[in-house]
Amino acid sequence: MLSPSILSADFTDIKKDFKIMEEGGCDFIHVDIMDGNYVPNISFGPSIVGQFRKLTEIPFDTHLMIERPENYVEEFAKAGSNILTIHPQTTKHLDRTLNLIKAHGMKCGVALNPSDDLSGLKYILKDLYLVLIMSVNPGFGGQSFIPSALKKIKDLRKIIDENSYETLIEVDGGVKLENAKEVLDAGADILVSGSGVFKGDAAKNIKKFKELMK
Ligand code: DX5
Ligand code: ZN
Repeated sequence: MLSPSILSADFTDIKKDFKIMEEGGCDFIHVDIMDGNYVPNISFGPSIVGQFRKLTEIPFDTHLMIERPENYVEEFAKAGSNILTIHPQTTKHLDRTLNLIKAHGMKCGVALNPSDDLSGLKYILKDLYLVLIMSVNPGFGGQSFIPSALKKIKDLRKIIDENSYETLIEVDGGVKLENAKEVLDAGADILVSGSGVFKGDAAKNIKKFKELMK
C-alpha cells in the first residue's frame, strides 16, 4: 500500500495533489504533525487536518511527532484522522494513550526511530494496527534512507509472521522508486513517500510505485 506524505506536497494548490492521489489509487495520505519540540520542525495541527478532510475521502494516516499526544487525540479524531501513530517517548503511558486512540474510533500505530529497539513492542504488538519503522530521524522530508532500517523491517516481519499477527509494517523516510522494491522485499506493507512522490511528476511517480507493489 502507498501513503504519500503531504509534507512535500504543494500547499498552494493542495486540491490538485489530493486529486492526483485519488486518481492514482493511493491507500492512505500520510499526514506529518510536528510540534517543534519533540522534533526540530513545525508543520500544522488538527484544524488544518480538518480542512483537508473536506477535500478528500482517502483515509488519513496521521503521524504525530509531538509531545503529550494524549492531549490531542480527541481533536485529531474530530478532524477526521483515521490512523493515529505516536512515538513511545512522547507519552508517559503508551498503552493508555493507544487505548485512548482506539476509544476515539481510530486505528493506532507506534513509530520507532532509527535507534529504537523492537523489544518495547513485545506486549502490545498484536493490538497495533501498524508499526511505523522510521528510516530517517523524524523532523524533515527529503532525507536519505538509513540502511539499518531494512534489518529492523525483516526482524519485525519475522515476529509478526511467526505469531500470525495482523499488524502492518509501515516504512517512512527516504523511500523512493529506486529503493521501494528492497523495502517491500524486507517485509513492508505500507510505504510512505514524500519527496519520492511529489518531486517531479506526482501522478507518474504514484503510478510507478503502484506497479512495483503489484
Ligand atoms: C519525517 C516524516 C516523513 C517525511 C517523509 O519526519 O515523518 O513522513 O515526510 O518524507 P521523504 O519521503 O521525503 O523522506
Ligand atoms: Zn511521517
